[in-house]
Amino acid sequence: MLKLVALGAISAALIIAQTPDIRGVWKADLEKSKLAGPPGSTPTNYLAIIEHKTAVFDAHTKEQAPQFVETTGIWGQHGEERTVLTVFLNGKAKVLPYMGVPTRLIASSEGNVFTVSGETAGRPNTFKRTYELSSDGQTLTLHSVANNNGKLAESTIVLLKQPDEAAAPLRAPEETAGKRFKNVKTPMKDLTASEFIESMRYFAWSLGKNCEFCHVRFKMDLDDKKEKQTARKMIEMVASIDAEHFKNHPAVRCFTCHEGHEHPLTHPLFPDEAAAAAAKTAQTAQH
Ligand code: HEC
Ligand code: HEC
Repeated sequence: MLKLVALGAISAALIIAQTPDIRGVWKADLEKSKLAGPPGSTPTNYLAIIEHKTAVFDAHTKEQAPQFVETTGIWGQHGEERTVLTVFLNGKAKVLPYMGVPTRLIASSEGNVFTVSGETAGRPNTFKRTYELSSDGQTLTLHSVANNNGKLAESTIVLLKQPDEAAAPLRAPEETAGKRFKNVKTPMKDLTASEFIESMRYFAWSLGKNCEFCHVRFKMDLDDKKEKQTARKMIEMVASIDAEHFKNHPAVRCFTCHEGHEHPLTHPLFPDEAAAAAAKTAQTAQH
């Protein structure tokens, strides 16, 4: 056992040593970059902070491992959007939330290229991000390809190294959902706007649906759909279960009951039912 742990530590150290050092503050050269998305959605600013941290990799053995943490801030017509991508640097896959949705993430390195691959739990969505560092260490070219149920979206972002102070806008506290949006009533109003949108993605994923299941398209503030009204009650129900029974830990979440279904199941699906349900989810898969 001890020997295995030691070997694990050595291989983790090796991966770190092989990883090109892309830590620091980066800003996109938007003229040289090609972002995925509809025309006219070009952001006005794009910043990233890349760091290494240490965190518990295995909750049972308490094994710790180094982590790559990339915080991205994109400023565009809808204001600011932040995302955090976390992946362990021990060469092993781990399921972590990415953009609000449980994602199996793994990192690898070869020469001056660092790669992160991800797969959404329960949905036919994968992505790959490769970070190529220039020989002078001043330019990082991030190429990303997302495959959402066969639909490809690609982008290339040319990032230029910045002094640490350049990250100030990304380190400043973000606006809350209550301030940013028009009709937010539950305690979710205290989340940052980006965390709130991540929770929305989590809701859609938990129920195997997309945003339009609860929302009138492009009019997210309207309460016209009964599903949205039900969801608000569900948010309150989940908060009260956690408060009353789990000392306020987020022990029960939407997926605990819904498991990817609009209505929680009353029995395990038979194989033919499971195949039909998976095909239906793939159709609505959006990520
Ligand atoms: C299961 C239902 C459900 C799904 C699916 C869902 N939402 Fe929501 N959404 C809500 C509820 C409920 C609120 C109001 C929350 C509150 O009052 O605290 C809300 C509020 C919002 C708001 C705030 C609108 C405003 O101005 O008041 C935005 C923006 C939003 N959702 C975006 C999304 C996006 C984007 C998706 C898809 C990724 C999504 N939602 C999927 C239930 C849902
Ligand atoms: C403790 C179990 C449980 C949890 C946790 C839970 N739900 Fe539900 N939810 C249900 C049940 C059961 C129903 C079906 C009620 C019925 O059929 O009358 C339902 C129904 C719904 C519906 C209505 C679906 C429809 O077609 O009308 C929405 C929307 C919904 N839940 C959203 C959520 C969201 C969002 C969360 C997380 C914030 C959540 N639920 C957490 C048990 C749960």
